[in-house]
Amino acid sequence: MKIITCIAPVNIATIKYWGKRDTELILPLNDSISVTLSTDQMHSKTTVAIDPDFKSDRMWLNGKEQSVDNPRFAQCLKEIRRRVQDKHGDIADWKFHICSENNFPTAAGLASSAAGYACLVYALAKVSGISEVRDVSLVARRGSGSACRSVWGGFVRWQAGVRPDGADSLAEQLYPAEHWPPVRVLVLVVSDSKKKIGSTSGMQESVKTSKLLAHRVERVLPDRIANMIEAIGRKDFATFADLTMQDSNQFHAVCLDTYPPIVYMNEVSHAIVDFVHKYNQLANQVKVAYTFDAGPNACLFVLEPDVADVIAHLRHLFPPTEHSAANYVRGIPVVQHVQLHKDIQPLGTPYEKGQLKYIIHTKVGDGPRVLTDD
Ligand code: DP6
Repeated sequence: MKIITCIAPVNIATIKYWGKRDTELILPLNDSISVTLSTDQMHSKTTVAIDPDFKSDRMWLNGKEQSVDNPRFAQCLKEIRRRVQDKHGDIADWKFHICSENNFPTAAGLASSAAGYACLVYALAKVSGISEVRDVSLVARRGSGSACRSVWGGFVRWQAGVRPDGADSLAEQLYPAEHWPPVRVLVLVVSDSKKKIGSTSGMQESVKTSKLLAHRVERVLPDRIANMIEAIGRKDFATFADLTMQDSNQFHAVCLDTYPPIVYMNEVSHAIVDFVHKYNQLANQVKVAYTFDAGPNACLFVLEPDVADVIAHLRHLFPPTEHSAANYVRGIPVVQHVQLHKDIQPLGTPYEKGQLKYIIHTKVGDGPRVLTDD
């Protein structure tokens, strides 16, 4: 028996993937760009055992056994086996037993499927002796498109590719995590329940009905992608932040342009957007950026020296309940004590307690890694 345990990170798109040109092969309409988050705070963990005596493939997710007939899961196993056959034919018939868990809410628009599939495929590849990140990205894409980006750390681009078979649709690293050390990420958890409309069906509805999506893909994204890569390259936070916010807003505009419309952001999400713009306006400088995926939770990008101040303002605007106060900010400790300016009224009046459940303070991190290998 061979057994291996791996962890893989969450990634947050700053240029969103929304829409497929091939739903079967999971080929996107556009390139996307993401930031990989540190596994210290959020990760998927997967253990894979492989043994000649196992009778069938089996899979447990967060402790519950799942069907292995899920087509995307089955596709990942098939693709790995095809590669194993080419390299080490002797173990190609062995069955897998797989245990996976996330240390953050599943399916709440917190990129859990990306980390989950990246981890699954990385662990399957490692236990089977496949080492090319390229292969891991191509196969992870078959599990969930955004998963192909979680196989790299730092700043990542998923090339949409042009080939009908998808052989050129995979992620590449633009810059490693060390490229821009002060970048911090605050995940603002507004809701940890399952999203109403999944990304897979939501984006298909947008492809069918949204004219804004076609405009975005053809007219907006080519320049925006190039500008984003340049901004990251020269560590230009203001440009990076503007592009990130504009792209999040356009993605949600596409969702509203879908017919019937898809609404992922809620009242608290919009209050967060207002806060960020007012904060930047008062600072006379772009110091914070937001981005929202297919759910109401926000991801804020901030540079390290501003984290304590931004958190202090968030705490004031979205007060924790007595119950959540002690655990309101999780992750990297915020050491600096900030005295709020007396007149912070321009940033808005405080929201009802408990509307923001908690904040995860994290940073840019590395790709998947092996924890134990026996
Ligand atoms: C809004 O990767 O979850 O998070 O490929 O159908 O599994 P499938 O979709 P998925 O879509 C992610 C959409 C997004 C934007 C992004 O991460 O780029």
